[in-house]
Amino acid sequence: MEKKKMATKKSNSKTSNNDTGTTRLNKFLANNSEFARRKIDEMIQQGRVTVNHKLIIEPGVQIDNLKDEVRLDGERIREKIKKTYILLHKPIGFITTTDDEKNRKTVMDIIKTSEKLFPIGRLDIDTSGVLLLTNDGDFANKLMHPKFKVEKTYIVSLSRPLDEKIRLKLAGGIKLDGKKTAPAKIEFVNKDVFDTVAITLTEGRNRQVRRMFENYGFFVRKLHRSLYGHLTVDGLNAGEYRKLSILEINKFINK
Ligand code: URA
Repeated sequence: MEKKKMATKKSNSKTSNNDTGTTRLNKFLANNSEFARRKIDEMIQQGRVTVNHKLIIEPGVQIDNLKDEVRLDGERIREKIKKTYILLHKPIGFITTTDDEKNRKTVMDIIKTSEKLFPIGRLDIDTSGVLLLTNDGDFANKLMHPKFKVEKTYIVSLSRPLDEKIRLKLAGGIKLDGKKTAPAKIEFVNKDVFDTVAITLTEGRNRQVRRMFENYGFFVRKLHRSLYGHLTVDGLNAGEYRKLSILEINKFINK
């Protein structure tokens, strides 16, 4: 037998389906098919299940839920990939990509997981704040699609005070790469300080905030994404992360 890890004795353990461990054959099949556990036990005893091409009639055999090849009536049954959604307080100094040919630190160096996650959108190396990561492509596409208009708010520290004329121009939309930016909200964070603003965008063009202000001769000293939809980094120091709750995920899905 090619795969040596398949155990042959029945286990009493309550090992659950997870991405690193082993699972009882009947539990694996119940978790990854439409059949209930009792029906699965019947099918195994009827000789309808093979593991690594070997007929198995013992429902309690332990299998490696990623490596062992399980077939029901000849059809390969695969481990359903568990969907993961993470909110990272991205620190400055990390690039937003899964790997980097120049060997710079990436946000993936912060997240300790064996799951294949990817960032939803991008923050520049010198931008901090809310960054979502997931392995759910549909979710990521939905959030990034302009049609869904997910609002992103950035706190921008500018090289000089912003005057009302430029504020209104930027808020109304300016041409970047030949295409007008969508309307944005731009407010002063503190009513007496005119060089720090909160800008809310529904788009996510490359370096959009920096380029919008640079267009009027500003230099962006600091950029922090304080809001992504309804999500903030509250409770997380830079470099810390947490899983999203079902409610937080559903709020985007049901938008
Ligand atoms: N806009 C920028 O210019 N940079 C970011 O990181 C995010 C938005």
